[in-house]
Amino acid sequence: MNKEIAIDGPAGAGKSTIAKRVAEKLGLIYVDTGAMFRAIALYMTGKCVKSNETDKVKEELNNIRLDIVYENGEQQIILNDENVSRLIRNPEISKAASSFAQVPEVRERLLILQRELADKRPVVMDGRDIGTKVLPSAAVKIFLTADVRVRAERRYKELTDKGEKVNLEDIMSDIKSRDEQDMNRKVSPLVQAGDAVLVDTSSLSIDEVVDTIIKIACDKNPDF
Ligand code: DC
Repeated sequence: MNKEIAIDGPAGAGKSTIAKRVAEKLGLIYVDTGAMFRAIALYMTGKCVKSNETDKVKEELNNIRLDIVYENGEQQIILNDENVSRLIRNPEISKAASSFAQVPEVRERLLILQRELADKRPVVMDGRDIGTKVLPSAAVKIFLTADVRVRAERRYKELTDKGEKVNLEDIMSDIKSRDEQDMNRKVSPLVQAGDAVLVDTSSLSIDEVVDTIIKIACDKNPDF
């Protein structure tokens, strides 16, 4: 059995924090696929291309080179030789990433990159379609979710801790509309894989969620 762990779920469920820690504890590589969609969105918005301008999107995809590298264990995303790991973390890019993620050619392009990474070494990969599409035979599939208010409150705390001025209701409405778009798109929508374990993190601490996932993994494959 392989040692792949697929973690999917809606925005703000804590996927990246949890996936990163699970990967550290199990000695696996963490791959954040959302960052790839964000980098594409950053490039396209920089070129004033909209997600419904399919021909332009296809054409511009030819001008994009994405590389994933690791610095001190942290994934860095390099867009045409520029490290954009920080630039992709803002609410506008979150929205745009969800829109460009509807374009089949964008998904096909990233699917190749995602599978190449998983072919090299065992990974913990998080996203929206990892268990259903990218790594359908992953040994462990987790669908991580939490109540939408809890997700919005966590995001609010994260941003206000960084000194950003944000509004809880705005964050909640952004999360809701992104989930709606991610769940209802035609290609690879966000959906729980039939063989994924549902983990609701609403009333769990990060450590509790990490321990739960590690237990699920070890029960599935004692080699983890
Ligand atoms: O995980 P994230 O918030 O960084 O993802 C940003 C957007 O990218 C998300 O709203 C939808 C899209 N995405 C996707 O469609 N498929 C993935 N595997 C990962 C992200």
